[in-house]
Amino acid sequence: MTERLRLGINIDHVATLRNARGGRHPDPLRAAAIAAKAGADSITAHLREDRRHIQDADIVALAREGVLPLNLEMAATPEMLEVTLANRPHAVCLVPEKRQELTTEGGLDAVAEKHHLAPYVEAMMAIGIEVAIFIDPERAQVEAARALGAFAVELHTGRYCNAEGEARTEELHRLVEAAERAVGLGLECHAGHGLSFDTVAPVAAIPEVCELNIGHFLVGEGVFVGLGASVQTMRALMDDARNGPLQKTTQRGSA
Ligand code: PXP
Repeated sequence: MTERLRLGINIDHVATLRNARGGRHPDPLRAAAIAAKAGADSITAHLREDRRHIQDADIVALAREGVLPLNLEMAATPEMLEVTLANRPHAVCLVPEKRQELTTEGGLDAVAEKHHLAPYVEAMMAIGIEVAIFIDPERAQVEAARALGAFAVELHTGRYCNAEGEARTEELHRLVEAAERAVGLGLECHAGHGLSFDTVAPVAAIPEVCELNIGHFLVGEGVFVGLGASVQTMRALMDDARNGPLQKTTQRGSA
């Protein structure tokens, strides 16, 4: 499996910067256009309940302009379902959401929340929106996502990124096993959260993973080198990891 690994750029923190002054600059839509030119395949945006970064008008503009397919991250709530049905993004990633958290802290518990999640997955899949469920890399979670009828899982890479040494290798193996299980069950396997130039290669080398969603690091790096250059470097690192001669050793060996 050597098809090109897709790169989704999460532009939430372009909106964070804009909101710091309340005006229109920097515009997430402009960031989407730059990301597209630099080799991104989709745009990811999280409309949070508290609207701390992305606003409703951003979702309308991103969906309407269609610079790239839109992947909307959302909590499973009636309000967010309404936004989704109105804007018809290409894909949705269901995520857990707590008001006090700085960022999404863990995956959804698809096992415990199956009755709550089921109608959301069904309503969106029924109108052709590809629904992913953001989960920790655990077999039971992957199987629950499959049972819910999701199109994909997105594996939470945060623990892998935060771990060091042997512990990081262990976390990488958890991602590999969950990815194999997901594809074995007929799901697409995506991954993301916390990825940077230093951590992306081993995840990109997992052949079952077909999409990475990356935001905070790329927007931050963009402050120094420009968003386009930041995305281009990530794109090259992903392509090298997926296609390069070190693919197998990287995947199982060093994290
Ligand atoms: N995937 C999901 C489901 C997320 O919630 C986030 C953060 O919004 C990301 C990917 C991107 O994470 P980061 O901004 O740390 O790259």
